[in-house]
Amino acid sequence: MSIQRLSYLGFEVSDIAAWRAFAADKLGLMESSAVAHRARFRIDSRAWRLSVDKGQADDLSFSGYEVDSEEALTAVKKRLEARGVAVLVEGQDIATDRGVLGLVSCKDPAGNRVEICYGPTEVFETPFISPAGVSGFLTGDQGFGHYVLNVPDASAALDFYIKGLGLHLSDIIDWKLSDELTVRIYFLHCNGRHHTLALGSFPGDKALHHFMLEATQFDDVGFALEKFEADGAIVATLGRHTNDHMVSFYGATPSGFAVEYGWGARQVETNWSVVRYDKISVWGHRFIGLG
Ligand SMILES: [Fe+2]
Repeated sequence: MSIQRLSYLGFEVSDIAAWRAFAADKLGLMESSAVAHRARFRIDSRAWRLSVDKGQADDLSFSGYEVDSEEALTAVKKRLEARGVAVLVEGQDIATDRGVLGLVSCKDPAGNRVEICYGPTEVFETPFISPAGVSGFLTGDQGFGHYVLNVPDASAALDFYIKGLGLHLSDIIDWKLSDELTVRIYFLHCNGRHHTLALGSFPGDKALHHFMLEATQFDDVGFALEKFEADGAIVATLGRHTNDHMVSFYGATPSGFAVEYGWGARQVETNWSVVRYDKISVWGHRFIGLG
């Protein structure tokens, strides 16, 4: 029994107000709740997908994966424990806060908090409406989107996420950042989405390299691109990735890590074979800078 999809992400951010404006205006996310120390956002029929909580880290706070039943949650817990991972069954207070029927939590080898849940809250009675007019985001069986972790020890992280949580390797890119530095990036899937998680040892000390939202219409990417351009917040130009074939650009968030805003990725299929690449993009994705 393995995890099924990414359910939600949580960030610890120093400027909640900036994130509320950014999420609504630039990304087109729908705010579901906001108090002084926290804001949560929707991108589909789920009650929330992204939580930003007040703090100084400006980094990933937690990732939430989901399984389809209580039995599957127990199975994943046992699978992790069999590998020596300490797994905590969270109480009703956190389950209620996350809006799920049950969850467990643990730390990955880099110390990132990982939650596994079942029974998330659906709110079909309040349709998702993007404040920026985004057509919608690709979620469903493919989950929230993807995120990329900067880890000190890729082998330990792969052992946790593949052998522990049950993700599968999609492919590898050896990303040449300079003559002196090539970073090997591992792309992992747990459903049709080409990668839900990627990891590598990047320069920089944030755990979160970027997270990705996949729009359902290409024009949504174009509209967002123009808004980031207007603010001088492009991190990397429009381009198409070699491995998932997604057309996307990267923009700066108020927390110093990037957001990838994309469309049109291909999915992993049955009989998928692991391959490797020397290039991260077919064209484009010219690096501009982070803020
Ligand atoms: Fe990405």
